[in-house]
This record gives sequence, C-alpha cells and structure tokens, in this order.
Amino acid sequence: MIWLIGSKGMLGTELAEVLTASGLAWAGSDRETDIRDPQALQSWLAAPGGANGQTVDWIVNCSAYTAVDRAEDEEELARGINALGAGNIARLAATIGARLIHISTDYVFRGDGTRPYIETDPVDPQGAYGRTKAEGESLVSNLCPQNFIVRTAWLYGQHGPNFVDTMLRLMRERDSIGVVADQHGTPTWAFDLARAIAAIIKREPASFGIYHFTNAGQTTWHEFAGEIQRLGLEYGLLDHACSIKPLTTAEYPTKAQRPAYSVLSKDKIMAAGIAVPEWKASLHAFFERDLAH
Ligand SMILES: NC(=O)c1ccc[n+]([C@@H]2O[C@H](COP(=O)([O-])OP(=O)(O)OC[C@H]3O[C@@H](n4cnc5c(N)ncnc54)[C@H](OP(=O)(O)O)[C@@H]3O)[C@@H](O)[C@H]2O)c1
Repeated sequence: MIWLIGSKGMLGTELAEVLTASGLAWAGSDRETDIRDPQALQSWLAAPGGANGQTVDWIVNCSAYTAVDRAEDEEELARGINALGAGNIARLAATIGARLIHISTDYVFRGDGTRPYIETDPVDPQGAYGRTKAEGESLVSNLCPQNFIVRTAWLYGQHGPNFVDTMLRLMRERDSIGVVADQHGTPTWAFDLARAIAAIIKREPASFGIYHFTNAGQTTWHEFAGEIQRLGLEYGLLDHACSIKPLTTAEYPTKAQRPAYSVLSKDKIMAAGIAVPEWKASLHAFFERDLAH
C-alpha cells in the first residue's frame, strides 16, 4: 500500500482522489502524525487508523511548512518540518524498504537563470523556505536510496489557498489591481502533479533521484492573472473586467525574495513517459472541473 503523508494539504487531497480513482490502495496521515516525531511515524505503521500492519511499498511526502514569507521569521520551525521531518520519513522508508516520493520546490534554486533549470543544476536557495527544502532534499537523497524527489512550482488547486482564488477575489472586489510582471515561471495544476505522482508509482521510472514537474510553457504572474480574468469572465465567475497593472518586483516587496526566473525543465520526466500538460489548457480544465458550477 501507499502511505500518503500530508494527505489533507492542497496536493495531498488531490493525490488522495487520484490514487482512489486509479485503484491504488493508500492510507493517509497529516498533522496528527507529526513528521518531526520519528516515534509517531513508526507507530503509524502498526496503528489501526494507519497502515494497520500492512506492508507499505511507497511513501509519498506531501507534508511541508509552506508559508514562504513567515519562514523568514520561523526558519527553525520550517527546518523541523521541511528538513528534519523529511529526514525522519526517509530514514523510516529505508528501514522498511519502501520507495519514497518527496515533493520539493523551485525555491531551491537561485532564481536568476536564463534557461529552464535541469535536475543537476546546483541549488542555491535565496530564502529560509528554500534553504529548509534544499536541506530536506539532501537528507532524503542521503538517507533513502530508493527516492524520487519531485520539484514543482506555482501550485494551485481546489483544496488550498492559491493564486487563482486570490486573483478571482481581488478582481471581484476591485476595478484595478497590480500584479508582478517580471517574475517568470510556470503555473502547475495540483491535479496534473497528482497524476504525475500516480504515474511514477505505476510506471516506476528506471532511475531514482530528482525529477522536475510543472505544467508546460512559461509565463509571468501578470500574464497568469490575465488568463484567470479571461476565464473568470467566460465562466461567469466575474461580472466586470478589472484593469491588471504590471508591477516590478521592486514595486511589490515581500518578506522573502521571490525568484525572477524559476522555469523548470521537464525533459527528464517526459523521457520517463509522464505527461506534462500545457499550463493554459490545465488552467482551463481547472475552471471547467472545479470552479464552474
Ligand atoms: N504551494 C505551492 O505553490 C508549492 C510550490 C512548490 C512546491 N510546493 C511543495 O509541494 C508540496 C505540497 O504543497 P501544498 O501546497 O499542498 O502544501 P499544504 O497545502 O501546506 O499542505 C501541507 C500539509 O502538511 C501538513 N503538515 C504541516 N506540518 C506537518 C507536520 N509537522 N507533520 C505532519 N503534517 C504536517 C499541513 O498541515 P497544516 O495545514 O495543519 O499545517 C498540510 O496539511 C510541499 O512539499 C511544498 O513544499 C508547493
């Protein structure tokens, strides 16, 4: 069976649905089984509400400390979850012989690239969140030989606060908003990432290690907002057009520095036979499936 850790988060909830629809047996844990506590993880394996003694073949770690700005003030708390917690999971996976899929982020890179980042590019995180995620990656790769580390970026979905919801709310409330136009990346629908994770479990790529997965293509937050507005109007979720002013990063300061360029190359995961849908098509599908009622 599959142990889905962080099963109540944005990605975890989506993955739970995909695993069920794919007929893959899984059981989940979230906050109540604190990944910072190795004993709690160990106990879950035998617990009736956990694996109940069944063999765990795969662990997928979707749990994380994801508050990027708050992490600047709470780096030790973020490290406990993103690094040491991930390490606890990796150690246990190795002990029980389970393969581990661990989710990581574009924030491990410096973010000043000029071509899509490949898996072997050196990490150089610029903030506390990225540092703790990079440490988590190293612990996972050092402690659990059978690991797949899947880096993703700009995640949105039905089951968590995200950029699409925020934009739709602001566009309803205002006639004009400003959105950063000098940061480049790729939006990623959590459903597509969940399907990619399920595909890794089913296909089991020949080599372990790091894989990048986002949707295909690249854009800016400003262009992403424009597409959200276009679809919001088309699906009747917005009743008026709102002017979207392009901002520079300097005009929209945040506590944690955001990468100027964080496009990830998907060549490796595509070569493993895993589909990478285009970002606009997936955004459209998200509206169609989850937002238009
Ligand atoms: N969201 C993005 O834009 C984005 C971008 C790139 C990469 N990622 C990565 O993608 C993965 C999934 O992100 P997400 O957006 O789905 O995150 P999320 O919605 O914040 O979900 C994380 C889950 O982990 C739980 N959790 C936190 N601390 C825990 C602990 N100590 N023990 C057990 N569970 C704990 C959280 O519970 P609480 O809600 O109670 O805290 C939550 O249910 C993460 O690895 C993240 O770093 C996300």
